[in-house]
Amino acid sequence: MKDKIKILNEKMALAKLGGGEKRIAAHHAKKKLTARERVEYLLDEGSFEEIGMLVTHRTTDFGMEKEIIYGDGVVTGYGTVNGRLVYVFAQDFTVFGGSLSETHAEKICKVMDMALKNGAPMIGLNDSGGARIQEGVRSLGGYADIFYRNVQASGVIPQISAIMGPCAGGAVYSPAMTDFTMMVQGNSYMFVTGPNVVKTVTNEEVTSEELGGASTHSTKSGVAHITSPNGIECLEDIKKLLSYLPQNNRETAPKIPYEVKEEIREKLDTIVPDNPNKPYDMHDVIANIIDEDSFFEIHKDFAENIVVGFARLGGRSIGIVANNPKYLAGCLDVKSSTKGARFVRFCDCFNIPLLVLEDVPGFLPGTDQEWNGIIVHGAKLLYAFSEATVPRVTVITRKAYGGAYDVMNSKHIGADMNFAWPTAEIAVMGAKGASEIIFKKEISEANDPAAKLLEKEAEYAELFANPYTAAQRGFIDEVILPRDTRRKLLKAFSSLENKVVDTPKRKHGNIPL
Ligand code: HXC
Repeated sequence: MKDKIKILNEKMALAKLGGGEKRIAAHHAKKKLTARERVEYLLDEGSFEEIGMLVTHRTTDFGMEKEIIYGDGVVTGYGTVNGRLVYVFAQDFTVFGGSLSETHAEKICKVMDMALKNGAPMIGLNDSGGARIQEGVRSLGGYADIFYRNVQASGVIPQISAIMGPCAGGAVYSPAMTDFTMMVQGNSYMFVTGPNVVKTVTNEEVTSEELGGASTHSTKSGVAHITSPNGIECLEDIKKLLSYLPQNNRETAPKIPYEVKEEIREKLDTIVPDNPNKPYDMHDVIANIIDEDSFFEIHKDFAENIVVGFARLGGRSIGIVANNPKYLAGCLDVKSSTKGARFVRFCDCFNIPLLVLEDVPGFLPGTDQEWNGIIVHGAKLLYAFSEATVPRVTVITRKAYGGAYDVMNSKHIGADMNFAWPTAEIAVMGAKGASEIIFKKEISEANDPAAKLLEKEAEYAELFANPYTAAQRGFIDEVILPRDTRRKLLKAFSSLENKVVDTPKRKHGNIPL
């Protein structure tokens, strides 16, 4: 027995050594944690149970039979984060560059299957050179096996991907199909093909950072939902994100006990400027509505004209979608529509109620937007809200103009409660544009056309630039004082807790992609 235990201990020690001390030292020199260190840090102390530690690859081509490393470049298993079960894989860059072999893929698939069966989140810590080149089509097949499982698990369990090193080729597509992609600044890259291939094919000179670094993907492409300054912060962000989410689509997110207190927030009365054309930051509105410091923003630096993220309201997890007049006057454009739609659909999959804060002058006009498909992308947001069956509440703080009024969780597309502040303006378009069209003849024939335009603008504004016409028709349930917003929302969401919606039987809808 003693001998047998010795053999096992030796094998386990070898597995823990990954690609060897030299490679681990090189890894640490790049300020990167090893796969095992990452798993240890992410999970509650002592909770990790490893699966497949002694798996080895089966390749004999290119002399690979001489290079057998236990674990085959990926650490897989399960444990807990703040006492809640999660499944995890962490790729080990010190072993063949974290590249994905047939067996490496099998290990990942095994934990994905377990996560799905047992209804727990799946977390992937990615650090990989993509398909293991020595294995050819077997590694491509391995990727496809993972992609298929990503789709089977989509909307059933939360899937989170952290990119903690270079991720190339197939290594980027699985994260892209998960719910959230997090990146580490300065230490992680995502690209389908690296700078050398780019240079050969397009003759472009580009660095890895410019092509696929964290700042590129968090500001330009939107591939990264969350960016963290280092690996430790990234793992902390995963834990924080998980705290807002349920374990699976049959559960609701954990609720923190909350006692209703003085819920009036006078600061809200002072945020919207008197001049309707002056910007303000919707983050200030959010901060004064939600539980203190509870906002966890997603896609913070991408399409900033819409703000999305998780927060707590009276201890309940909610998703917030808010126009931000500080950027592009809060207009909806291609990127913000897609960003909003994806977030709405995530919340709807996982029973997270939605709060919409609206100040939107309309869709952004122009050739750039039209040629880039604002029609189809705007339709995504409209579709996402219309299909969502979670509790949905809207507060119009100022502008709700044109199609954007309909899209931003209006009563007509299934919102449960719609509030407006007295500063709300709900109409087909702004007073100036509308007056120039409908009073065109009268203005041009006037002795003083400029004065006439002003007179007509005032007339139009009196009639439409307010929340009362919409309230008279019941499109707004109540016009409320800003200071009373938190109190009203606490009650509204509480009343919607047991909401049930029957939807027509179908295989799935066909969202305009
Ligand atoms: C096998 C690989 C590998 C790979 C890296 N290595 N990528 N081994 N298959 N795909 C090995 C290297 O040989 C090296 O081994 C070790 O990992 C570290 O790699 P380095 O190049 O020294 O590291 P670094 O300079 O940090 O560069 C990392 C990298 C680079 C940017 C990831 O290695 C790289 O460009 N790799 C190839 C990326 C790629 O094109 N993958 C696409 C595969 S096709 P030693 O023994 O020297 O330590 C694909 C298609 C799937 O994935 C499509 C599905 C849709």
